Amino acid sequence: MADFQIAPSILSADFAKLGEECDNVLASGADIIHFDVMDNHYVPNLTIGPLVCDALRKHGITAPIDVHLMVNPVDRIIPDFAKAGATYITFHPEASEHVYRTLQLIKGEGCKAGLVFNPATPLDVLEYTLPKCDMVLLMSVNPGFSGQAFIPYVLDKARQVRKMIDDQGLDCRLEIDGGVKADNIAEVAAAGIDTFVSGSGIFGGRNESDPNKYDTILKQMRDELAKVGSKRGA
Ligand code: DX5
Ligand code: ZN
Repeated sequence: MADFQIAPSILSADFAKLGEECDNVLASGADIIHFDVMDNHYVPNLTIGPLVCDALRKHGITAPIDVHLMVNPVDRIIPDFAKAGATYITFHPEASEHVYRTLQLIKGEGCKAGLVFNPATPLDVLEYTLPKCDMVLLMSVNPGFSGQAFIPYVLDKARQVRKMIDDQGLDCRLEIDGGVKADNIAEVAAAGIDTFVSGSGIFGGRNESDPNKYDTILKQMRDELAKVGSKRGA
């Protein structure tokens, strides 16, 4: 079966007890913490920075932290996130003057690097940069807020990038972000995605019997993914 990973977006968590929320969602079976950084400039919202990433590491989070930068400029803040314990750092190519240099900067800081594509952003920059990427993140909503509706045509982009990664035999994760829930995760996986960000889909689906647990929703997502794994004959 494909190596599917589920990445809860903490944008939908309870920020007053963020460490505990991360512990709980990981203990319930999530793989990666998706960490949304917004600057009220590149996107019309303001969230969290390196201090919060560092605090989560000090709290004891050992799972990969997937830092999604929705900021412009990007370069100045990258070393701060590397020091704060980021595993992946992804950025939007529109927000960097020199995309390849920014990828090199992230890798030089010892992190995994990736590019993020808004729904309306073409993929052409991948012609020269895909072999340098550890991750490609396709936005299936316009970035800035959780709880928006999934944009279906992004699945065509997913199929295109999956083909590019496979044709070139690259070790690169293909992630999707926005509007992913248990009821569409299988269709998304069938389009070639292997890493699934979900904010409201997971944090809005706490166990009814215990609001600190997310096993029910995560199991539902895994069951859906298992169907795709077997359909592919993997
Ligand atoms: C949107 C963020 C997402 C967001 C996803 O700009 O990048 O990570 O939290 O939230 P949902 O899954 O609720 O669409
Ligand atoms: Zn995100």
